[in-house]
Amino acid sequence: MTATRQFKVTSAEVIDALVDLKRLPSFSNTLAEFDRLANQSNGAHVEEVTRLLQSDPRMMAGVIRTANTARYARGGRKVTQLSEAVGLLGVKDVRATIMALSFLDVFSEGVEMETNVFLKHSMVSGFIAKHLASYFAIPEYEAFLMGLFHEIGIYILATYSKEGFALVKEKSNQRLKYYVTAERDVFGVTHSSVGARIISHWHMPERVIRGVLGHHSPARIEVAYQPAAYLTYLAESGAVYLGLFNGVAEAASDEINASTQRALQKQGIDESTFLQAIAKGYEEAESVGLI
Ligand SMILES: [Fe+2]
Ligand SMILES: [Fe+2]
Repeated sequence: MTATRQFKVTSAEVIDALVDLKRLPSFSNTLAEFDRLANQSNGAHVEEVTRLLQSDPRMMAGVIRTANTARYARGGRKVTQLSEAVGLLGVKDVRATIMALSFLDVFSEGVEMETNVFLKHSMVSGFIAKHLASYFAIPEYEAFLMGLFHEIGIYILATYSKEGFALVKEKSNQRLKYYVTAERDVFGVTHSSVGARIISHWHMPERVIRGVLGHHSPARIEVAYQPAAYLTYLAESGAVYLGLFNGVAEAASDEINASTQRALQKQGIDESTFLQAIAKGYEEAESVGLI
């Protein structure tokens, strides 16, 4: 048996193995409940959203905390009531807050990666995607999810096999351009497909799943979902541009590389628009206290 053959697996097997070991991260159902409220014919009301958040103390605390960040500051007066926080954020931003907090809830200690670096990369990618969403005719909340979750497969593979993960890092020399190939060599699967599989397990929208699946190979995704894949790819490129790497591999920052330029051209987005979305995304992530 070769050194790597022992780690070969399929995305479904990774998820099944983690379920069996009771190590599959769970995903908050507050988001699903929230979406049910938001999809009612008359939309979600502040009272209903408040009631839902009251049943989840961590979410409740997170929404109040967000209402007290720079983005919503109201002359230095502190918000202490949940209903006031919900009113201040509005339905869209409450949803984004629930997404971000649900994402953070997935992670636990004991995985050998630079989690803080990974989380910052993911958060900033989420907000950059949100600011690029309109150029792809994709709803902002779906774009945000794509950016936020695009690397979740890295964490899942690291949780699945410590040894396999260490080997991927070694083989890739922790360079982004070799990382996916190293994953394929070691595991036979990549973080893109494992990530898509886990978020599909969590019932995320199909477009978000395809965006994550295609973020390293957008041109190879089914045409209908290519905008999602390109958007996710560009969001991650934006984070890399800022020097915010994913905690396992690095690349050149502060430059728009040739493949990013091609992707921008294909979508008819000029570089200054891209740079603006990157700056706005970073700013927003910072102003809501998520980085
Ligand atoms: Fe990736
Ligand atoms: Fe990434």
